[in-house]
Amino acid sequence: MSQSSAPYFEALCAYAEVPRAAFHTPGHIQGKGAHPDMRAAVGDRMLSLDISPGLGNMDGVPGSALDRAQELAAEAYGADRTWFLANGSTLGNQVMVTAVCHPGDTILTSRNTHRSIISALMMGGVRPVYIPAELDPESHIAHGVTPAQVEANLAAHPEVRAVLIVSPTYYGVCSDVAGIAEAAHRHGVPLLVDEAWGPHFPFHPDLPPHALSQGADMAVAGAHKLLSAFLQASMLHVQGDLVDHARVEVVNRMLQSTSPSCLLRASIDVARMQMATEGEALLSTAIELAEEARARIEEHPLLSCLDKRLIGSHGVVAFDPTRLSVNVISTGYTGYDVERMLFDDHAVTMEMADYANVLANVTMGHSRSDLDQFVDALHAIADKPSAHQLDAQGFVERALYEVPEQVMSPGEAFHASQERVRLADAVGRISAEMAATYPPGIPVVVPGERLTPALVAHLTAQVAAGGRIVGPQDPKLDRIQVVCE
Ligand SMILES: Cc1ncc(COP(=O)(O)O)c(C=O)c1O
Repeated sequence: MSQSSAPYFEALCAYAEVPRAAFHTPGHIQGKGAHPDMRAAVGDRMLSLDISPGLGNMDGVPGSALDRAQELAAEAYGADRTWFLANGSTLGNQVMVTAVCHPGDTILTSRNTHRSIISALMMGGVRPVYIPAELDPESHIAHGVTPAQVEANLAAHPEVRAVLIVSPTYYGVCSDVAGIAEAAHRHGVPLLVDEAWGPHFPFHPDLPPHALSQGADMAVAGAHKLLSAFLQASMLHVQGDLVDHARVEVVNRMLQSTSPSCLLRASIDVARMQMATEGEALLSTAIELAEEARARIEEHPLLSCLDKRLIGSHGVVAFDPTRLSVNVISTGYTGYDVERMLFDDHAVTMEMADYANVLANVTMGHSRSDLDQFVDALHAIADKPSAHQLDAQGFVERALYEVPEQVMSPGEAFHASQERVRLADAVGRISAEMAATYPPGIPVVVPGERLTPALVAHLTAQVAAGGRIVGPQDPKLDRIQVVCE
């Protein structure tokens, strides 16, 4: 099989070529029963490819098109086995945790982890030991974790069953995966890497090395995030014998829909082919555009960008130049303000904003004019700074960068009997729910943690500053679920 073929995509197109009286899902029957508005919007061709996943030789038979496509992806990423995931990297994290840990097991992970990892712990009854996040005083962001931190925690907690890190972070910052893998393996436990933001790493020499090449045992690659695959597409890779491959297969089938979208799977297959055959050229252009934009943005005295100068600071060994993160706090506007002004006044849409930063993804889909529009808009905003003096340092430091007291495991607290109290009255109570600012989806509070005055103040300030909080039953977070003690 060649990396320039896309067997799943090809089989899907071939299936749809043959006219059939079809009696299977989805109910629109290859578009024939679709609403005319939908047909007009997405086109008959796309609808004809939206078929049930088990047809013909697509899946579920030896040597199926899916098997062959996943083998090609495994080869491209240097994995022993790869699964296409139809429920995003969220599913990948859930599969990794569930395949490796049993209820009551302990996992070592960083505190600035993604909420999908915390929800996997909640569902699986797994206890976290956290590596505290260290805040970078300039960017106001927490970056990587170090092998020394992992080693020290593994020595202190011999019960740890696996290490799970996020690398790169949302902002493109990579930890020393090789050093962390060595530490984990010295203690006989696997390293699982949430590499949702690094699916392009294997395909360009100027990008950070990808997790499997650094010795990780499992890695999740978010195919929809920075490759051309459709939304919700992701991949899970496994190598070596510290993880039971057969169990991963079973857990994946358990947690994934029994009707994963064929279009979505085909888009992963083609995205892999695109990267394997043209990735270096396409990514060279993306890197060049991002670097040029970064240099232009920095010409403005009130704007600064994350870049490779970060390498060597706490936990940081590599940086993805295609992640364009701009610190706007000196303009007197928050990242949330700037994101809104870019959207409302300049027709520019960001990947995300936090209190101090806005973040743009730069991919093979961009042209120089897109980047020029973004940079010009940023300069126009920064040319009219707000009179406010914003204290990002104080704002962020009040937050989660000390691990709160964990009174119960996330799962125990989530399932415990609970009551709803006003957030202002919740200091000292054990949270029964997760509250994460979104994006980036890093939990401020995890179920089972005792709410401190600093945490409550931070959550209140986040809501007031325009941050979106996800997780709690009350989206405005006037009230929070706490454990009845
Ligand atoms: C680090 C990280 N992991 C996992 C996810 C979940 O990915 P998905 O949205 O594909 O489920 C995200 C989403 O932003 C993320 O930032």
